[in-house]
Amino acid sequence: MAQDKAHVAQDKDRSKPILVVDDDGDIRLALEMLLQYEGYEVWTARDGKEALARLDAEQAAGRRAALVLTDLKMPGVDGLELLEAVRAREHAPPVILISGHGDVATAVEAMQRGAANFLEKPLVDNRVLVTIRHALHTERLAKENSGLRKQLGDAWELVGESAATRALRAQIEQVGPAAAAVLITGENGTGKEVVARSLHLASARAAGPFVTVNCAAIPAELIESELFGHEKGSFTGAYERRVGHFEAANGGTLFLDEIGDMPAGAQAKVLRALETHEITRVGDSRDIPVDIRVVAATNADLARAVEEKTFRLDLFYRLNVVPLHLAPLRERRDDVLPLARHFLERAGARSGRAPLELAADAERRLLELDYPGNVRQLKNLLEGASVFAEGGVIRVEDLERILAAGPAMSVPDAPLGAGEADPFQARTFEEFKDRSEALFFRRKLDANGGNVKRTAEELGMQRSHLYKKLDRYGLR
Ligand SMILES: Nc1ncnc2c1ncn2[C@@H]1O[C@H](COP(=O)(O)OP(=O)(O)OP(=O)(O)O)[C@@H](O)[C@H]1O
Ligand SMILES: [Mg+2]
Repeated sequence: MAQDKAHVAQDKDRSKPILVVDDDGDIRLALEMLLQYEGYEVWTARDGKEALARLDAEQAAGRRAALVLTDLKMPGVDGLELLEAVRAREHAPPVILISGHGDVATAVEAMQRGAANFLEKPLVDNRVLVTIRHALHTERLAKENSGLRKQLGDAWELVGESAATRALRAQIEQVGPAAAAVLITGENGTGKEVVARSLHLASARAAGPFVTVNCAAIPAELIESELFGHEKGSFTGAYERRVGHFEAANGGTLFLDEIGDMPAGAQAKVLRALETHEITRVGDSRDIPVDIRVVAATNADLARAVEEKTFRLDLFYRLNVVPLHLAPLRERRDDVLPLARHFLERAGARSGRAPLELAADAERRLLELDYPGNVRQLKNLLEGASVFAEGGVIRVEDLERILAAGPAMSVPDAPLGAGEADPFQARTFEEFKDRSEALFFRRKLDANGGNVKRTAEELGMQRSHLYKKLDRYGLR
């Protein structure tokens, strides 16, 4: 599987030519043959000047080199000058320099001036190929990351015009680039994950991974192996070696969501990892260095948990270097309409239509609501109301229809309540099906105010059948 992927990636990289530049005809020919044999298209030039002319001519025909492989010492425009001229171009390809044996000083200078790598003479075929592949791969990753960053940047934009949200955006700009740990607090649906991702995107780690760990969703006995990974055979069920979330987040941000629910045993280990910047896999004794920035979030009162001794004070300090608090939506009503328009615009863009508009009375209604489910509830309310909108306008009646259906209906992806088990954390398919069914019937029943008859009608089920289900899941 991994091999297949590598192949596809290589093929993509091979679709664009490599420009080989050397004044020595023998080397030029040898490189050309080697690369062609490997499936690359090859352009050649005898010196820097000819190389630049070739790049210009090809560009005029709409073609670009994927990479430039150039000798350092050449008459006229030499390798370093070529490097600079190439790097100054738009969509500059990576440049690999070939230096004379032992000419390390120049090679280092080349790297400082932006060369992707350097090769020493005499050239060894395999080394040449590996170096080229690596440079192409790195270049492609960098491109994908910046593209991804643009997309994600839009998707995780922190919208709102209230004083609180403006201040928060400024704080993110300021704190984002720092390495300090951030603790985000706020009620459900206030935007804690949006803030966590914005911090990541505002940091120098933006191109690195963003790894979310929902501490509440992992059973206590598995949390250590989830966070730190394990070696094969380290406990019953550890069939494979597994990389933990800390390692996966290396070079990026680790988002510890619902940190208040982290079991006591894991708290000590997390603290140690944050202090030493090292982790140990379960069943292994080696320390593995990790470079991560930690952002944690909770809707619980951690300070109280500390008082009640369910959360370690030292870990609290470690995580709470920079506290960011998200006010409930009802306390920042100036955000409501900008958020509403933002959600409608995104929904419009997704469906390729002009965004729905809000009638004046609908806007007024939106401003009155208390939003116990905060921004998530507003978003769901609009999505629901959009279904009934006519003529491109959401009217107050459309909102009322959703509001009348009750809280369960207006917050379909509400966080799991007490006694509700997350289907996606199920161990087996059977367990998944059971949990999903239980959740489905509970939510539907709630949406109908506990009225079984109405629920059965809505679901198109026989009432007796529904009762059986409700009994089975203890919902009656
Ligand atoms: N300021 C905002 N701008 C744009 N979208 C937002 C904003 N705040 C919240 N959202 C959207 O609202 C929804 C809920 O936000 P998010 O998941 O970040 O909340 P949360 O605080 O992590 O909630 P929970 O405690 O339930 O995990 C998401 O769809 C998110 O994209
Ligand atoms: Mg969240």
